[in-house]
Amino acid sequence: MSTSENAPAPEVDAKVISLDEVNKHNSEEDCWIVIHGKVYDITKFLDEHPGGSDVVLNASGKDATSEYDDVGHSNTANKMMKEYFIGEYEGGDSAPEGSAQANASPGAFQTLMQFLLPLAIILLALYVRNMTQQK
Ligand code: HEM
Repeated sequence: MSTSENAPAPEVDAKVISLDEVNKHNSEEDCWIVIHGKVYDITKFLDEHPGGSDVVLNASGKDATSEYDDVGHSNTANKMMKEYFIGEYEGGDSAPEGSAQANASPGAFQTLMQFLLPLAIILLALYVRNMTQQK
């Protein structure tokens, strides 16, 4: 038993990093970024980023979750970023998956209307027929 003793601790012991701390690292030489409640040191990744270094630099030193999600990054990108993880963000995830936005689907209302509207028309027709037959 030997090699793993000095290995870095897994995410369980991850350091909690504040926004103030993240703010200090917003340059090309020292670039941190917050995405989904996690802090990444992407200094070494800047030149490799397929979307260019400028776009990530502009979003550095802050919570860039919405910018990251807006691009619709692939699973490859999601896996890639794990390599640069340095700690948990104090402010948590600003856009957790399955959050309000995702759940409040406009489709639910539409489906309900598709069912209720014909039902209302049928009931109205029955009511009218009933009324005319009584006379
Ligand atoms: C550690 C964080 C990031 C990683 C690992 C990463 C990785 C990648 C990868 C692998 C791609 C190629 C397309 C794909 O596979 O999705 C990509 C494209 C791109 N990324 Fe990122 N990215 C990161 C952060 C960001 C941020 C914060 C922004 C915006 C502020 C951003 C903006 C873009 C843009 C604009 C493209 C180009 C999309 C296109 O050409 O269609 N990325 N990124």
